[in-house]
Amino acid sequence: MLRHPIKVNLPRSIGAVLKRGAHDLVTLPGRPPVVRYGPEGRSSISGHVATVFGCSGFLGRYVVSKLAKSGSNVVVPYRDDYDIRHLRVSGDLGGVVQMEWDLRSEQQIAECLRHSDIVYNLVGLDYETKNFKWNEVHVDGAARIARIAKENNVARFVQVSHLNAAPDSKSQYYKAKFEGEKAVLSEFPEAVIVRPSAMYGHEDRFLNRLGYWDAVFKFNGEQTKVRPVHVLDVAEILYRLMDTPELPSSPVNLPGPNTYTHEQLLDLARRLTDNSYKSMAIPKPVALLLSKIVQYALWWPNFSPDEIERMCIDDVEVPGDWDAFGIQPTELEDVAIAYLRRFRDAAKIDYNGPVETAKAKRKQAAYYSEAH
Ligand SMILES: NC(=O)c1ccc[n+]([C@@H]2O[C@H](COP(=O)([O-])OP(=O)(O)OC[C@H]3O[C@@H](n4cnc5c(N)ncnc54)[C@H](OP(=O)(O)O)[C@@H]3O)[C@@H](O)[C@H]2O)c1
Repeated sequence: MLRHPIKVNLPRSIGAVLKRGAHDLVTLPGRPPVVRYGPEGRSSISGHVATVFGCSGFLGRYVVSKLAKSGSNVVVPYRDDYDIRHLRVSGDLGGVVQMEWDLRSEQQIAECLRHSDIVYNLVGLDYETKNFKWNEVHVDGAARIARIAKENNVARFVQVSHLNAAPDSKSQYYKAKFEGEKAVLSEFPEAVIVRPSAMYGHEDRFLNRLGYWDAVFKFNGEQTKVRPVHVLDVAEILYRLMDTPELPSSPVNLPGPNTYTHEQLLDLARRLTDNSYKSMAIPKPVALLLSKIVQYALWWPNFSPDEIERMCIDDVEVPGDWDAFGIQPTELEDVAIAYLRRFRDAAKIDYNGPVETAKAKRKQAAYYSEAH
């Protein structure tokens, strides 16, 4: 008897034929069927062409990566090509197509999306700038992209909004997000509105803020309730919207699985980083005043008054729509160490656990003396 089975290397093309299944044919409204072929992965052809407006942002990089890795052609509109250099290697040669664009140029928007069967709008602004106010980006800009997508027979349009989007919110950002949803739906009634809560990941503005500058989590007596969600889970849902034959009912709410108060998050960060977090709590009216002054005095982005307002607004308590996609969202406590570890001092960077008490520090010292 042979001790080792004989390995036969089949040509890649045969493997591809054997993998063909009914699910490799996707039908989209008003479009010829999308046929997937080739081996799995970035060298395959998914048959889809996707445009991701806002691809240079935090969420954008993960969405582009997932789309390009599945063999889709991805159009990545950019304002500054330095901001999308990292996206070029997400897909096979020619898979990621860069196109310069301006939110106010209808012609450039049309050029970016006219060959696509799905368009994602991830464009967003956390703070207003001299050139762009929230309404121009979240409402007028979103509606413009949706209208041009409709005119060009794009089969699917995905608008990324926010879990707390509401017409009567105290935050102008949340209000603009809500108005944006309405404007998109009036141009593209079948559009899918996706509402994630605050997202965390390596480049986030959530855990990184918690690590650098905890004072902003101390407004509202640290009692603001948040439901943070992992950026990769949101990106996975956006990716799946490309191939889902039946679209889920809109809006798709994507809060994280757990609700935390800011106090609990500060405690988690303190335990994982062993930082003492001694910064003073600034009273909200003082912070608002300082922030308003800073907005006029400095010309680079600073913590805006609206962001202070948002730090005091609880995330809405709606159930997440994860089950419709068969996804179990990640628990923050399971992965937070990966993002907060870098705020530790160098001596504790490798230690895999909370370091808070003197006893834990002694244990840690013993670990180091044994390991090194
Ligand atoms: N991050 C969160 O926690 C969170 C939570 C819920 C919802 N959201 C929403 O999800 C979407 C993506 O979030 P994100 O964190 O990835 O945002 P981000 O990192 O701030 O990226 C924003 C993107 O929008 C583009 N953009 C902004 N203003 C523009 C303008 N005037 N013209 C053209 N492009 C413009 C930026 O392009 P440039 O690189 O050229 O500036 C960038 O690609 C946004 O709509 C955001 O409101 C975010």
